[in-house]
Amino acid sequence: MSAVTRSATRTPATGLGVQGLPRIARGEGSYLYDTAGKRYLDGSGGPAVYAIGHAHPAVNAAIGRQLEDVAHGYRYFFTSDALESLSARIVANCENHFPHMVFVCSGSEAVESALKIALQYHDARGDTSRRRFIARERSYHGNTLGSLSVSGFEQRRAPFEGALLEVDFVSPANAYRPPPDARGGDLGTWLRDELENRILEIGPERVAAFIFEPVVGAAGGVVPPPPGYAAAMRDVCDRYGVLMIADEVMCGAGRCGTWRALEFDGVVPDIMTLAKSLAAGYLPLGATLYSSRVHAGILERYPEVQTGHTFTAHTACCAAGDAVQKIVADEGLVERVLRVGETFKASLRSELEAVDAVGDVRGRGFLVGVELVADRDRKTPFPRERGLSADIARRAFDSGLVCYPCSGHVDGAGDTIILAPPFNSSQRELDAIVDMLKGAILSALG
Ligand SMILES: Cc1ncc(COP(=O)(O)O)c(C=O)c1O
Repeated sequence: MSAVTRSATRTPATGLGVQGLPRIARGEGSYLYDTAGKRYLDGSGGPAVYAIGHAHPAVNAAIGRQLEDVAHGYRYFFTSDALESLSARIVANCENHFPHMVFVCSGSEAVESALKIALQYHDARGDTSRRRFIARERSYHGNTLGSLSVSGFEQRRAPFEGALLEVDFVSPANAYRPPPDARGGDLGTWLRDELENRILEIGPERVAAFIFEPVVGAAGGVVPPPPGYAAAMRDVCDRYGVLMIADEVMCGAGRCGTWRALEFDGVVPDIMTLAKSLAAGYLPLGATLYSSRVHAGILERYPEVQTGHTFTAHTACCAAGDAVQKIVADEGLVERVLRVGETFKASLRSELEAVDAVGDVRGRGFLVGVELVADRDRKTPFPRERGLSADIARRAFDSGLVCYPCSGHVDGAGDTIILAPPFNSSQRELDAIVDMLKGAILSALG
């Protein structure tokens, strides 16, 4: 098939409702260029991935060197400098809480491994009835059968219902839209009690782990939890021998202004996942980290953790992750995200204050959501058929801004625009993101 035929017959689902996508030519820093020469400011780092911008010469050089030496040393035959250096950086960034890890090639695989490590831990300790996971509604953990099973994301689950794992779901920790029964009281306490009651209903001896996103990404339209939430959930998990899995695929590796997102909440999970910002899109890389306690539990019965794939710890992917994390550390980018993230959010709030349809601007660090509502006081969403977030993202894209539309998080309706710029975006670029997004919102609202 010729290239022309291929592109003419392609009608991809983009989330933007665009049929003919522009053809990517190159990237440079916070910008992308298509083959027609149009420039796009990357306001969302694609899907919250490109943490240090595009075509960074030091990362490309590190990958090039690795490829020239050897692309891949299979994990059961060789270790490598890239693998060991990246592992050491991660151990240090997590303050030694996670000396054990397995590298994979995506966030879904990282979650899949996290679920399996939790199951293997309980099995090894003779807790063989602990096979059940508790997850949260309005969450996304991936697209493999296991990771999709623990995702509270109706649209993505629908075609596979009946074949997914049996999973229990509790409420999201959304202070802007608390569960109806929780209104008026302390949300954190209500959610803690809900988790505890659910564990008791199922039977603690049957629950393997609780999995959650410390800051929800696309499934909820960026939702940071209320203060004290993660610590309260940790307490409940500890009381009933339930492992805590923090899915930091989107919010981790510095995106929220601390290297681990949960560091901000003062909580250490038993198992955690990473992906997007780890190698920042230069090559596919995810990781599942686990504590010494989990590792020792597994070794009570098994010689090793039984997870991983052919491309686990792929050498060139680890070299990419190592080079990205070296830049993040050398340039103090995580601290910058924490500091500048507050001013970025404040400037979005003040610029969008006068736009009635902007109901909430929330987030942590460089993971920010702008939720649109038809009625600000009642927080009524726009009708689903209006497709407002997709409309805004399309207009932004046309004007040269990449942002990430997200919908369906309010009973099937709901519109939020996600911004997740590169950690090293300049102040001028951040200001331009705010201006261009405001323009796109006003244009869509007519
Ligand atoms: C929190 C979270 N977990 C898991 C995944 C799945 O990652 P991947 O798409 O790399 O498989 C995503 C993807 O967006 C995510 O946001």
